[in-house]
Amino acid sequence: MLETNSIVDIRATVVQTRRISSSVSIITLHCPAIAAAAKPGNFVNIKVSDTTLPLLRRPFSIHNREGEHIDIMAKSIGPGTSLLCNTEKGSTVMVLGPLGTSFDTTSKEFNTAILVSGGIGTAPMLFLEKTVAAKGKKVINLIGGRTNEELLAGSLSNCRFATDDGSSGFRGTVVELLENELPGFEKKESLKVFACGPNPMLKAVAGFCREHRLACDVSLESVMGCGIGICYGCSVEVKSPDGGLRTILLCREGPVIDAELLAV
Ligand SMILES: Cc1cc2nc3c(=O)[nH]c(=O)nc-3n(C[C@H](O)[C@H](O)[C@H](O)COP(=O)(O)OP(=O)(O)OC[C@H]3O[C@@H](n4cnc5c(N)ncnc54)[C@H](O)[C@@H]3O)c2cc1C
Ligand code: FES
Repeated sequence: MLETNSIVDIRATVVQTRRISSSVSIITLHCPAIAAAAKPGNFVNIKVSDTTLPLLRRPFSIHNREGEHIDIMAKSIGPGTSLLCNTEKGSTVMVLGPLGTSFDTTSKEFNTAILVSGGIGTAPMLFLEKTVAAKGKKVINLIGGRTNEELLAGSLSNCRFATDDGSSGFRGTVVELLENELPGFEKKESLKVFACGPNPMLKAVAGFCREHRLACDVSLESVMGCGIGICYGCSVEVKSPDGGLRTILLCREGPVIDAELLAV
């Protein structure tokens, strides 16, 4: 669900930057209004520098929320993420949010949530896990990466792992792990899948969930500019009700969408 009336653009103080792997850091930001309004799956658009380099803001999922703070889990892949991963305590960044749609955790139709993530797609899962668990539902995390070093379990609970090279957990993709785990759920459990990761992984999860009639939300990725529906930089094609394709702006109608819109 998209809510726009609670969006703010504020200068947030960096409370802490913590490196959790060679390329990934968790940045804690003091931004009370965003923390208060955020829902799991929402993202923020951060101006990582006060100079024009880089000019555009960068989008990041809200990894966690604690009181007046939000955490961002950022992977350094270019100039913007590198600057953010190296921000120092006490410095400030402009943060616009909370933006986009959120995972639908309100449905009474599931009692077990399967959180499927790949690579940095694990970023929104802690906030999601805490929200689902607070509703008294069971949570299981299936986490994938190319190698052991790419697995980002952090503070997540009840985790099972898949690596392409078999260096940790199940050897194969996280979608194959999901297929492997499915028979282990009891009949009385009603399941819903929540997924975030590279788009090809999400397409595979969506196809799997359609085949097995599992409810599923996916959080997609695209390059973004404004984050609020102005620049048209984030258009992606999804299925339309007539069976054709339609274009949506991912920053407004996403990043979280019903996986049915993706499944082929
Ligand atoms: C809704 C949303 C939530 C996100 N959440 C997180 C998060 O929690 N943690 C995190 O580390 N990253 C997240 N990302 C991705 C992050 O925004 C990009 O990695 C970042 O913008 C790259 O900026 P840069 O200046 O470091 O690299 P750039 O120089 O901008 O990009 C480096 C390379 O990565 C490619 N690229 C950039 N952005 C994306 C993208 N969104 N999808 C695919 N390829 C891309 C570029 O084309 C280029 O080849 C999210 C993206 C979206 C859209
Ligand atoms: S990022 Fe500008 S319209 Fe979506």
